[in-house]
Amino acid sequence: MQDLDEFTATDAALAQMAATPDPRLKEIADAAVRHLHAFVRDVNLTPAEWLTGIAFLTQVGKACTPVRQEFILLSDVLGVSAVVNALHDKKARELGTQSSLLGPFYREGAPELELGACIARHPSSAQIVLYGQVTDNDGAPLPHALVQVWQTSEHGLYDLQAADHENMDLRANFRCDAEGRYHFRTVRPLGYPIPMDGPVGQMVRAQNRHGFRPAHIHFLIGAEGHRELVTALYFGDDDHIDSDTVFGVSGSLVVTAAEDPKSPVPGLKAVHFDFRLARAVEGEMGRVGADPARLAAE
Ligand code: BEZ
Ligand code: FE
Repeated sequence: MQDLDEFTATDAALAQMAATPDPRLKEIADAAVRHLHAFVRDVNLTPAEWLTGIAFLTQVGKACTPVRQEFILLSDVLGVSAVVNALHDKKARELGTQSSLLGPFYREGAPELELGACIARHPSSAQIVLYGQVTDNDGAPLPHALVQVWQTSEHGLYDLQAADHENMDLRANFRCDAEGRYHFRTVRPLGYPIPMDGPVGQMVRAQNRHGFRPAHIHFLIGAEGHRELVTALYFGDDDHIDSDTVFGVSGSLVVTAAEDPKSPVPGLKAVHFDFRLARAVEGEMGRVGADPARLAAE
């Protein structure tokens, strides 16, 4: 009969899991148990605190729906998604454009628009242009790459946050031309708070954090034989550019909309950004996140 204490309980749990046939599952589960047990000992967790944690995670699960992924949000605000992204970038055979969070507002099946189209259905502020080229890491164009974009409105809301969220807005898919070039019009998005009306928002408030993300436009770019790129461009003049609640900003992704004589749409302020995709690695997926509807259906 085992007589367990706070240390030997860890050994006993690891021993029971020792025959896990999948080596990667074993590595991950072993490390999770070791770190979790060490955390419990470290903070001397009381039964009441443990129950509070269980109740919190229960609320996080209950908040998940086909249009909301509270667990991804939790991973984001704790910086876990940023660490996974950083490790993923480091593993790239060559470093393409830096990645950033997919976030909870990505949707599959956005309308495919012609290059140059405006992705905002009801623009109420000046339009801007985004343009550039999708290349491989040597600068060779990737013809007909698929560029998916989504963003908040000039008021700081995603279409998913609107009452009529069945109607997609401020998102589109574009096929680059034969030289890998893309361009589209949009409104300058406004920075916005992460969804604060659920358990994760409650936690962020309890930590005295502002909860904002700086203004940005998301990109998900794919081309045959290349790693899918999940990234975002951030507007440098946003008040929260240095304090993103979900740690998505990197210097290389910060842009400004400015007069640009080379812009394909004269007269509008423009952001020029070229994306570089690393070569594909067999069986690897580059997305930290998913359409919430897909996760809810699994
Ligand atoms: C977003 O950029 O859409 C986002 C990312 C992480 C958490 C909340 C929002
Ligand atoms: Fe976003």
